[in-house]
Amino acid sequence: MNLQGRHLLKMRDFSGEEIKGLIDLAIHLKKEKRNGIDQSAELRGKNIALIFEKTSTRTRCAFEVAAADLGMHTTYLDASGSQIGKKESIKDTARVLGGMFDGIEYRGFGQETVEELARYAGVPVWNGLTDESHPTQMIADMMTIKEHLGQLEGRKFVLMGDGSFNMGNSLMVTCAKLGMHYVSCSHPNCFPARELVDYCKEICKTSGGSVTLTSDVEAGCRDADIIYTDVWVSMGEPFEIWEQRIHDLLPYQVNARVMSYAGESCLFMHCLPAFHDLGTGLGRQIHEKFGLSEMEVTDEVFESPASVVFEEAENRMHSIKAIMYATMPR
Ligand code: CP
Ligand code: NVA
Repeated sequence: MNLQGRHLLKMRDFSGEEIKGLIDLAIHLKKEKRNGIDQSAELRGKNIALIFEKTSTRTRCAFEVAAADLGMHTTYLDASGSQIGKKESIKDTARVLGGMFDGIEYRGFGQETVEELARYAGVPVWNGLTDESHPTQMIADMMTIKEHLGQLEGRKFVLMGDGSFNMGNSLMVTCAKLGMHYVSCSHPNCFPARELVDYCKEICKTSGGSVTLTSDVEAGCRDADIIYTDVWVSMGEPFEIWEQRIHDLLPYQVNARVMSYAGESCLFMHCLPAFHDLGTGLGRQIHEKFGLSEMEVTDEVFESPASVVFEEAENRMHSIKAIMYATMPR
């Protein structure tokens, strides 16, 4: 597998074989690090830019630690402290940063922005999350499943809640390409877009996977290998839509009853951050306004043995390392 010089903008751009290659590379790099193997000669002296127009804990830290492990330097740029988008277009920014850096990570709003950055940068661009997709998260998620269940193909993967935003889109495409059985279990208002569902169903004809949309929680979760959820309102969406989302998605909260439909060995996953208690400012605000103390997942499930969310978070670092390692031209 040679991915040198490639961008990682969305999962549609990668074949099932390429995705599997990245997952296996991430598992390999994780083992190396666990065994104390020094990886700092791999990309020594290279420089990467990290652009974040939205906030981040995992993705930013994963890029910074992975880059340091590989011997690279990072420069962090946020929306307030740079010219990006205000005084300088993405096209110009791409050409400026492409002249100084060997790779660029971008987190922001529209998918077209990261696509434009990639068109003009002349160096690999990695999408650290847009409204449409979250590809680096996919490698970490699938790596975590592989570590626990051994095999990805044929697994039943259920996304409870919002299936229509970055996580739902990327998970559906990834599962389809890997021959998994993807279920979007949600209110019809939060199902993925028809065009993307059709694309995935086409892919499934050769991968052996399947895509199902259902609003029936018990049938949707029966015999699931993985139950996954994401926040009900994503970064960049207005606060005003919480009321509608709570109305639509509360029946799709991941709780002990939902997990019991799946069975003993089912994993619980979440890209994080999660609203599972009142430990956040926004969580308390929602509690005051709507009376809910847990949202997309109950604290009981979040803290249960089925939950692999913190391994999944650690795997963001190993998988982002694999993505940079594989795509950086030598
Ligand atoms: N899962 C994820 O992307 O987390 P951050 O928003 O903290 O980067
Ligand atoms: N859908 C979430 C994912 C966070 C990692 C968001 O965009 O806020």
